[in-house]
Amino acid sequence: MPKSLDSFAPCACCDRPLTEEEMVTRCHEIVQEYKDKPGGLIPALQMAQSLFGYLPKPVVKAIADGFGKSYSEVSGVVSFYSFFSTRPRGKFLIRVCLGTACYVRGGKDVLEALKKKLGVEVGETTPDRNFTLDVGRCFGACGMAPVVMINDTVHQRVKPGRIGELLTRVLTGENPTAERERA
Ligand code: FES
Repeated sequence: MPKSLDSFAPCACCDRPLTEEEMVTRCHEIVQEYKDKPGGLIPALQMAQSLFGYLPKPVVKAIADGFGKSYSEVSGVVSFYSFFSTRPRGKFLIRVCLGTACYVRGGKDVLEALKKKLGVEVGETTPDRNFTLDVGRCFGACGMAPVVMINDTVHQRVKPGRIGELLTRVLTGENPTAERERA
């Protein structure tokens, strides 16, 4: 009988990163949860990524073994979908929209400001593991360009000169809609 998903929750008291061995142990539980469900591989990978923040090789291998598939087959699935990452991600995933509307209204400048402020390039994570920087191609909010998505929250009309302010608000959990109100 698989454990409840609550059993996967990270330790609230120490919040230390799991070792790869601990991740693999939890993968066995994830596999039990999904292996008999039709199309269960993708949700299992999503669950593993939600819990660990990324999909390191031992995790992909454990899930492949659990589903009776080859490592290369599951690794191919992971590389096919852009929402999977084999590198550690920060607590906050920042995606700068570079779709046409956002690009022409300053999305590139927003991206450059974020690179400078965070000291990382696209695809990289800050050393404190707070932020990962990425780009996207339209989040469906073109009328509010330029747009930045941070985890599941869309920040509208983002100004390069206010990037530091935005990051501080994200870290402190301040009202994410404030960006629109101050624009
Ligand atoms: S182009 Fe950026 S939200 Fe559509």
